[in-house]
Amino acid sequence: MTDATQQDAPRDTIYNRLGGAEGVQRLVDRFYALMDELPEAWDIRQMHPDLPRANESLFKFLSGWFGGPPLFEQERGHPRLRARHFPFRIGPRERDQWMLCMRGALDEQVPDQALRAAIHGAFQDMATHIINTETPKPPPPPVIDNELDVIDELCQPAKLNIIELGCGAARVARDLLDRYPEARMTCLEVDAIQHEKNLASPRERLEFVAAGAQAIPFPDAGFDLALMLKSLHHVPMPLMAQALAEVARVLRPGGMLYVSEPMYEGAFNDIIKLYNDEGEVRAAAQAALDAALEAGLFTEVISGRFDAPRGYRDFAEFEARMMRPSFADHRIDDAKLAEVRAAFEPHLKDDGAKFLQPMLVRQFRRAGGEEVKS
Ligand code: HEM
Repeated sequence: MTDATQQDAPRDTIYNRLGGAEGVQRLVDRFYALMDELPEAWDIRQMHPDLPRANESLFKFLSGWFGGPPLFEQERGHPRLRARHFPFRIGPRERDQWMLCMRGALDEQVPDQALRAAIHGAFQDMATHIINTETPKPPPPPVIDNELDVIDELCQPAKLNIIELGCGAARVARDLLDRYPEARMTCLEVDAIQHEKNLASPRERLEFVAAGAQAIPFPDAGFDLALMLKSLHHVPMPLMAQALAEVARVLRPGGMLYVSEPMYEGAFNDIIKLYNDEGEVRAAAQAALDAALEAGLFTEVISGRFDAPRGYRDFAEFEARMMRPSFADHRIDDAKLAEVRAAFEPHLKDDGAKFLQPMLVRQFRRAGGEEVKS
């Protein structure tokens, strides 16, 4: 614990200069007497229903804080004063009331002006530090289980010609076409097995192409909107910049790029990274986006985050879907499988394991044109 004066020599501690335990006790007694008496301190008086208990605690704390015996710490451990005040709503008004009482007590009990000023300053700093109403936690990001709702709100894709890079099973693409009978989609996928599966379920207004984002087999400026849904970090790192340049090329001026990427945080990520640590590639994906902005290919329209719910009936389902995808071999041996299972199982409840995966969305506009109107 840091004492209030930063003075180490025992004779010069505030504790000694106040007259030891008796002096500290007098200060504390006057402080609570004023809190009890002063109408201006009414709000904080209500917070202290048991003044003798508060008196005892503050005395013990100040004993150590002023450089005397650390009575509070000995009994209760580290004071963690800010945390101990969390149950109370303390704003500038409460702080000022508290300081009004302390100022009065100091004026009465500490004739030495320099000492009084030093103690007052230390209390003022601590009381300000204890304020807990001014940094409200930001509201949690929205939980969104259908990303199409986000795409819908940001990109208004109803009548657009859309290209998706790295479509996987094209679930979002199919939903999008169901929802918007006038939209068209071209879906690129590099994984040959997945591409074959996609071809096996054709549908109207949906074209599947076996290609990577780094070499898009389409002419310039043909699309209104490009989607990269959790796919940019799968592009080999040295090719990410090229992929974004390709996306810019095939978008018409003013066209939109919508990129969503899982964030490298949270309980779900903690499990995945045991067998597939994507920290580096996900950071590289964001850096490539920043570089594309810097290069003037795009301007950023908006960025934001949401939480995507992920659910698995049991570990077998998680293993099949997440650990053994067709597009990657994560080289899972028995030891790794056991390690991942041990991390997964604590999340398993009666209705399966449920996670929220934090997602970052960035929406870019292709430089050099007007906004696309749907
Ligand atoms: C900023 C205005 C402050 C308010 C409104 C405030 C309010 C409170 C309240 C309501 C309690 C609980 C009392 C009880 O349990 O009966 C408390 C406890 C305490 N306060 Fe404050 N306080 C303030 C500032 C300070 C400052 C500046 C210090 C020390 C320099 C301090 C030291 C303590 C201590 C040591 C306790 C006892 C904690 C415990 O028993 O766990 N408080 N305070």
